[in-house]
Amino acid sequence: MQKQASTQKQNSLNAIARLSPTLPPKDFFERAGALASKSRLPLVQRAVQRAFAAFKQLPDDYFHEKGVETYTFHATFPHYTELPSATEQDERAILQSIRASPAVSVYYHVPFCESKCLYCSFSSKARGRNAREEYSLYFETVWRERRLWDAAIDLSEKTVTSVYFGGGTPTVLPVRVLREVLKKGKDVNLAQGAGVTCEASPGTLSREKTRLLGRETTRISLGVQSFDDELLAFMNRDHNADGAERAIRLAMANSPHVNVDLIYGFPTQSFQQWIATLERICEISPQSITVYRYWRKHGSAWFKEQFDFAHEMLARLMYFTALEALERAGYSLGPLHWFLKGTSNNEYTSRWGEGVPNIGFGVAGYGSSRNFVFRKTSRASEYAEAIAKRLIPFQHALVFNEAMQQASELIGQLRAFHKTTLAQVSNAAILATIREWVGQSLAEKRGDKLFLTEGGKALFDWMEKELLKRFQCE
Ligand SMILES: C[S@@+](CC[C@H](N)C(=O)[O-])C[C@H]1O[C@@H](n2cnc3c(N)ncnc32)[C@H](O)[C@@H]1O
Ligand code: SF4
Repeated sequence: MQKQASTQKQNSLNAIARLSPTLPPKDFFERAGALASKSRLPLVQRAVQRAFAAFKQLPDDYFHEKGVETYTFHATFPHYTELPSATEQDERAILQSIRASPAVSVYYHVPFCESKCLYCSFSSKARGRNAREEYSLYFETVWRERRLWDAAIDLSEKTVTSVYFGGGTPTVLPVRVLREVLKKGKDVNLAQGAGVTCEASPGTLSREKTRLLGRETTRISLGVQSFDDELLAFMNRDHNADGAERAIRLAMANSPHVNVDLIYGFPTQSFQQWIATLERICEISPQSITVYRYWRKHGSAWFKEQFDFAHEMLARLMYFTALEALERAGYSLGPLHWFLKGTSNNEYTSRWGEGVPNIGFGVAGYGSSRNFVFRKTSRASEYAEAIAKRLIPFQHALVFNEAMQQASELIGQLRAFHKTTLAQVSNAAILATIREWVGQSLAEKRGDKLFLTEGGKALFDWMEKELLKRFQCE
């Protein structure tokens, strides 16, 4: 009897996944709701109800051009792949703008991993055999780069609001190297209560490294992606599901804040697998969970593959299922995609919300503020050669005009706080976009504030893209 009910549930989830992506959103969610209620799937039923209510004002063709092919997550605005080449004038303007700011946040890029995941296009490679030598050469260059910045912008005079060690996988470094990198990386004028985060993968996290991170950082951010062994092997992850759980629990025993990254909408990932992953993470209950939509990235091994992908409406339903499951487990949505238990001192409120300039050190490091975005070369040899010549190898950059500054402020505040003050917006293209968002119930005005609705929070990556397209860096 129990087996029959479970098969029926699975069949319903498969039937939902097979619903046509060309259906208008209202019809898609209505049919998904009927399938979920027939098989008594209360979590999915509630997720569908929320999605239906959130999207009911959207035009029928809203999702037609949207999918993994066109999706980009804008950690900076605009995304670096959309930036022009950097000019000397850009470089001068960027350095001058940072020099004028009393505070900065800093990021250190560690371009090494245990193994290369097939979906990933971050600037990183699987560690080689002579890795120790490579690490020491790389970090000598990074510290040299930091001295160049110090000379250019008086870094040592600035308050540093957050420090982030990311990559790649910083915890692939042997414990002695990691200790030195963390110590040197933090050797800046840290603001009181500043967050210090280090990214990690489960396959690289030993007891000793975890203790070190517990002492030297305020947050460990662990990539896990899924708790499905088959899917993890398919991605070429450096761990299985049980290994991931052990690593999270070890991290939780040593650090005040453990974040876990998960991804939905992976090729071959079923709706059922996503729900099982959500159930397992809720049981483990780390301090925060970041849920990413799978992004088919240029430069990843999977980019060339012809997979069947979850279409956008199904991906939105996976998002709403996460929202419902995580809220039931005591989390609430913080800065976009990030679910937290309680509050957290984090770099997003200062970087996105308040526009504190962020400087990325290392190969492929990027930087952003209210006035600019830049990205340095992603070629290791080019990076090292430039630094040896005492040059910061800016590759792409955009210094914003007035309209882009307004857009960047609006987006940063909506991202960080889900609301913004409208007083500073005067650009006609931005105002027209806001009117459209309000008409589609993705945002609402209350006095002179603009708030994201539940639909807006679910679709914000798309809203950003539309806004950017509207006036393409005019
Ligand atoms: C630098 S990694 C985190 C730490 C570590 N390298 C790891 O993967 O375990 C940053 C996160 O970006 C996300 N990510 C990477 N590639 C992605 C993709 N193609 N689509 C969506 N999210 C992706 C993953 O969730 C990953 O954990
Ligand atoms: S997802 Fe993380 S571990 Fe995997 S290749 Fe990318 S940076 Fe490395």
